Amino acid sequence: METILATDRLVLRPLTPADAPQVQRLVAAREVAGATADIPFPFEAGMAAAWIGSIDPSHQRVFAITSGGTLVGSIGLHRDEANAQAELGYWLGLQHWGKGYATEAGRAVIRRGFLDLGLRRIWASHLGRNPASGHVLEKLGMRHEGTLRRHVLRFGVPEDLVHWGLLREEWRP
Ligand SMILES: CC(C)(COP(=O)(O)OP(=O)(O)OC[C@H]1O[C@@H](n2cnc3c(N)ncnc32)[C@H](O)[C@@H]1OP(=O)(O)O)[C@@H](O)C(=O)NCCC(=O)NCCS
Repeated sequence: METILATDRLVLRPLTPADAPQVQRLVAAREVAGATADIPFPFEAGMAAAWIGSIDPSHQRVFAITSGGTLVGSIGLHRDEANAQAELGYWLGLQHWGKGYATEAGRAVIRRGFLDLGLRRIWASHLGRNPASGHVLEKLGMRHEGTLRRHVLRFGVPEDLVHWGLLREEWRP
């Protein structure tokens, strides 16, 4: 199966161990790691390499998002085979925000999920204080499915987790 996805401006390819230094530089920013519900912060030396090494291709499709050959972020599907669905996750380096890259990459990955991976549902979640991520999911055609109130403890603070989902039959390629 094709492991490289091309969009108008981006090439999405599998992450490799050689990407670790650039991933480390981009994710370690508080604005990036700290905006997510689960990426550790501080993102200490070696964490990028450990994360890339832990990716299990039989359950996860994780892509480097590249622009002009430079890694600008990452996006992936974490599969739940028993339910023929997957969770979408993504981040972009701070200097690459606001250019529509997350939305552009998300469209390509959702297309892969529905057309090639046989998924019937793709879902995602974000912290309540991260409306930009919700806006990306809305632009991707997802529906707001609900908010889990104070569902996560992030840096010791209870935070809402906002859930979005897209069914195969709702998807407009
Ligand atoms: C969330 C994130 C991936 C967005 O990446 P991006 O490439 O800038 O996203 P896009 O440009 O495709 O779209 C962002 C949209 O959110 C909008 N937006 C930005 N800040 C916003 C805010 N505070 N409130 C509401 N919308 C906002 C932008 O205007 C844009 O919408 P538009 O195209 O209609 O103008 C990026 O900010 C990021 O990596 N954040 C840190 C990690 C993270 O949050 N990952 C997701 C965890 S669930």
